[in-house]
Amino acid sequence: MSTLAVIGAQWGDEGKGKVVDVIAREAKVVARFSGGNNAGHTLVIGDKKIITHLVPSGCAYPGTLCVLGAGMVVDCDVLREELDALERQGLMQSGELRVSYEAHLILPYHRELDGLREDARRDAKIGTTRRGVGPAYEAKAARRGIKVRDLFNPELLRSRLELNRGVLAPEFERLGGGRGVDVEAVMSQADQWRSWLEPAVCDVGALVHQAVVDGLPVLFEGAQGALLDVDHGTYPFVTSTSTIAGAACSGLGIGPTLIDGVWGISKAYATRVGAGPFPTRVDGAAGDAIRRAGAEFGATTGRPRDCGWLDLPALRYAARLNGLTGLCVTKLDVLAGLANVAICVGYRDGVEPGRDGLEAAVPVYESISGWDDPALRGRLEAARRLADLPVPVRAYLDRVAEAVGVPITLVSVGPDREQTIVVTTPF
Ligand code: IMP
Repeated sequence: MSTLAVIGAQWGDEGKGKVVDVIAREAKVVARFSGGNNAGHTLVIGDKKIITHLVPSGCAYPGTLCVLGAGMVVDCDVLREELDALERQGLMQSGELRVSYEAHLILPYHRELDGLREDARRDAKIGTTRRGVGPAYEAKAARRGIKVRDLFNPELLRSRLELNRGVLAPEFERLGGGRGVDVEAVMSQADQWRSWLEPAVCDVGALVHQAVVDGLPVLFEGAQGALLDVDHGTYPFVTSTSTIAGAACSGLGIGPTLIDGVWGISKAYATRVGAGPFPTRVDGAAGDAIRRAGAEFGATTGRPRDCGWLDLPALRYAARLNGLTGLCVTKLDVLAGLANVAICVGYRDGVEPGRDGLEAAVPVYESISGWDDPALRGRLEAARRLADLPVPVRAYLDRVAEAVGVPITLVSVGPDREQTIVVTTPF
């Protein structure tokens, strides 16, 4: 296998950052294809902890090209800040970044609009990350978005900004003002972005295609998760893009036949941040215990995540949507020491993910014994082969693989790179 797509198989925050960091060791190109800095991918490398929002999580290997595809929305200020921080820590050089001409820009008025709209929704919030992602994609679909390539054509840029100012002015007024579309401010920021970004900008589809033709290992890095997909997720409580593996093709400009395998990432339990259905949410002390053990607070917004048990119907659905060939189970160590671990094996009354009615789904649980041994966490964290895992933990993994119908290819037993069991080599 020379190419592999890695995607989130739940509601985001599955630990993609760490998994991509581990398997990118062998990759020559790591390419993100959708979303923007609504994503937050945490990497722990020795005593360094890095959170990336736009730069692919495979950034920490010298010589690996980090690619931002056409399907992404890019906030240039955030990208620059992130790259500067990675350079300062000696993890990445700016020469290793490539950005598609066709990617759209998140501009200050998108961020402002995202926040104003969320505030105005009062009790019906989506719980967006307020990074301007939705408004930037909305402008793209409305054919008035601003692409990276437009930075190199100031006349066109100005006219597009004026168009947006006209379209958005009534909404800004209705929502209580704000700065709105400040054409002159964006034009002057654009000068800085242009000169800084120019060396990185290219035809990303051609670059990735050539890398594959040359037989180089290429990793396609998803963002968010299958159940946040705009078409197949828990609409309208979703992000504004396609988050599934198929989006790697449209988001980079490559054909589906270039993807050799697809690994889905799932925590050993489930979390969700923002509003929307989450059938296996656990309230009260039991939910708090998972949140504490897993440090479940958003990497982008710091919001506490809702926590619950692993949802096998949802995972099966994600496996189908993505054509999973492998399953990576993360944060297995977090379950160790918890009393009364459970797993959702179905919903009552024939409810299924991907159909209406998930809000009312009543999960059917099986309880899983053997996790409350206080010594378990240490044994798990030290495991480096499947054979090192205690019997109840192996049984849990076997149960998940069998129910989802996908083999387990990687298991994460702690935040550090080294705390990983690679069952199948990725490339
Ligand atoms: P947006 O993508 O900022 O528009 O937010 C829409 C929904 O997707 C909200 O529920 C967010 O919390 C969720 N979301 C977006 N990105 C991520 C992510 O990377 N992890 C988890 N949830 C996310």
